[in-house]
Amino acid sequence: MGRRLSSVAVVVLLGLVLAGSAAGPAWAAGRCGDHPWCDTSLSADRRAALLVEALTPAERIGLLAGDVPAISGAAGTHTGTESGVPRLGVPPLYLTDGPIGVRQGQATAFPASIALAASFDRGLAAEHGRAIAEEARAKGNDVVYAPTVNILRTPLWGRAFESFGEDPYLTARTGVAWIRAAQRAGVMANVKHFAANNQEGEQGPGDELIGSRYTVDARVDERTLREIYLPHFEAAVKEGRVASVMCAYNKLNGPHACENRTLLTRILRQDWGFKGFVLADYGASKHVGTGLRAGLDFEPFPYVDFDGGENLRPEIVSAAIAAGRASQADVDRAVTHLLRELFAFGFFDRAAYPDDESQIDRPAHLRTAEEIAEAGTVLLRNRSRTLPLAAGRLRSLAVIGADADRNINGGGSSNINPYSFTSPRAAITTRAGSGVDVRFDDGTDLARAADAARGADAAVVVVADAATEGVDKPCLGLDCGAQRGVQRDRLIERVAAANRRTIVVLETAGPVLTPWRQRVGAILEAWYPGSAAGEAIARVLFGDVDPGGRLPATFPRRERDLPTAGDRRRYPGVNEVVRYSEGVLVGYRWFDERGIRPAYPFGHGLSYTRFALRNLGVRRARGGVGATVSVTVVNRGSRAGTAVPQVYVGLPGARGRVQPPRQLKGYQSLDLRRGQARRVTFRLDRRAFSYWDTRRHRWEVAPGCYRIQVGQSSRDIDARGALALRGASCG
Ligand code: GLC
Repeated sequence: MGRRLSSVAVVVLLGLVLAGSAAGPAWAAGRCGDHPWCDTSLSADRRAALLVEALTPAERIGLLAGDVPAISGAAGTHTGTESGVPRLGVPPLYLTDGPIGVRQGQATAFPASIALAASFDRGLAAEHGRAIAEEARAKGNDVVYAPTVNILRTPLWGRAFESFGEDPYLTARTGVAWIRAAQRAGVMANVKHFAANNQEGEQGPGDELIGSRYTVDARVDERTLREIYLPHFEAAVKEGRVASVMCAYNKLNGPHACENRTLLTRILRQDWGFKGFVLADYGASKHVGTGLRAGLDFEPFPYVDFDGGENLRPEIVSAAIAAGRASQADVDRAVTHLLRELFAFGFFDRAAYPDDESQIDRPAHLRTAEEIAEAGTVLLRNRSRTLPLAAGRLRSLAVIGADADRNINGGGSSNINPYSFTSPRAAITTRAGSGVDVRFDDGTDLARAADAARGADAAVVVVADAATEGVDKPCLGLDCGAQRGVQRDRLIERVAAANRRTIVVLETAGPVLTPWRQRVGAILEAWYPGSAAGEAIARVLFGDVDPGGRLPATFPRRERDLPTAGDRRRYPGVNEVVRYSEGVLVGYRWFDERGIRPAYPFGHGLSYTRFALRNLGVRRARGGVGATVSVTVVNRGSRAGTAVPQVYVGLPGARGRVQPPRQLKGYQSLDLRRGQARRVTFRLDRRAFSYWDTRRHRWEVAPGCYRIQVGQSSRDIDARGALALRGASCG
């Protein structure tokens, strides 16, 4: 007989139960007060319903939109403000940009999103999200408009630096880690821009844009949408539990994203179970009733109008209701979505976040920024061990290029005013030490720059591109876009001709053309490294740390090799319609399927040591579709370094269903000492073997032989295996 509870214990237990129910509501320690909706023992749904009921119709309408018509990014201001309802103790809601740092006065400029993706490191993605959320919170914000997860469909995209690159899996893993960490830090994340916001538009002959993000209609077939442009949003919702989603400016298959019922209700809420709220990009709401009924819940900035849209300002909403174009029920549904998430996230049950940046541990955040910048730096080329530089053996070093003296970042809503910044020139000079003659030339005079390089033990040329939200690059060369004086390609050529040990440090938003790559000793891609740019670049150059990055996007040999090149219907679009007719063949999928050799492939990146991947093991999952892939990574070189083994799966194609040769389905970044070996295991779930079936409108696993490839890039495959599924054989 089990041990019986003593009669005393039963009385005590009963007393506890009764006491709990008799105490009435469980008031939170926060700012909610003693209203019925402040009872934390109630569900978020119930609390939202009680509050909506207590609000007047006009107050509910007022909660649909932000109400401060200014976004300057100045200290003490917020990108978005919703003033709440003081009568009922509904607190103000503060929102801020963005994916690379907090655009509010000064802040830590973290490495750009593409640099973070290049680290292939989920732990660092969490660090990036946590640190930015901490700064957003210390400046009084409840929501941060990040991460940007749009796929880099064309490297011409003006916001390439804000993306996590061309692969949905890498983007999803990076985004989920970022969101979870940011929300654990107490700030609601806002995954953006939902969906298929993959271009800003090409600068036309006048000041108009061709294929502008505000007006372009992205025509994406169902399978491509589900397999390429949605998985990272799906992961943000299902795994990241993201609190909010920002709907994009563009149209998707007809309707604008912010009034696209398929996107905002059928896919987001019905298919994925999203419980948070949908907010509009700035000025992206189009028609009050259509938008609210499609699933738009909130417009933080209803003060811009790019093409005759109806904002959600109270007077416009009231007029729409009076004219029968919207209803109070539409309003109440949207406000309920917003309030429910605010209750669920604890927004009502805590004190307001004071705007007090003394709470920010700036030195710690600067170290985090530096660590991520180093881990995201990609060593593209290293002929005859040009790198690392040995300060003790250097007598002279030339540092060339005005960009070596500048803080490089992209323009627009992700442009951060850094608390501090160390330039590559300053940090390289410091790291070289007093025994090395470091001579600098800004590269504006090619002959003079070549003279400065000639005779030095090595020459470091630092060059940046120019990218900004609002307009795409006109071409992929280093000097495309906002002209900034020197011709950087020619500068590199002249310096390389003068010094055989020329090292090019790229600080770019994404892939660029590298016509001089065979004529230089080494190439580092540092992207937009942020506040600690100098320290990170110097430490990698001198080998204090291994370049940990791998390419999150393909570097083409020629611009015409890009999947979107040569067909204006694909990019930038014709008559404001852009056709994603390349389908699932985005990025390396295109290069691999078409057999095009890139300059540097997706996943590529060298180390100062060398690795081997051995003993591939592929084990089918028991009871269902899946597999465990294991491989031993060995450091065969003479120093410690960072390895990034990558797992690719080649799904079987079928008539009418093209499949790229391989797709990234697993990766890990690991540091190994000289001679160290480590067994790494990757778990591939059912989704890793699935395609989107457009007849059944769901994920399916086709019968066939699945090729498992493990390598150090998408083109450098060390080991191959196969897995037969659904009764097929691998022959
Ligand atoms: C911009 C961007 C968006 C940003 C918002 C607020 O238009 O598209 O990413 O968060 O406005 O600055």
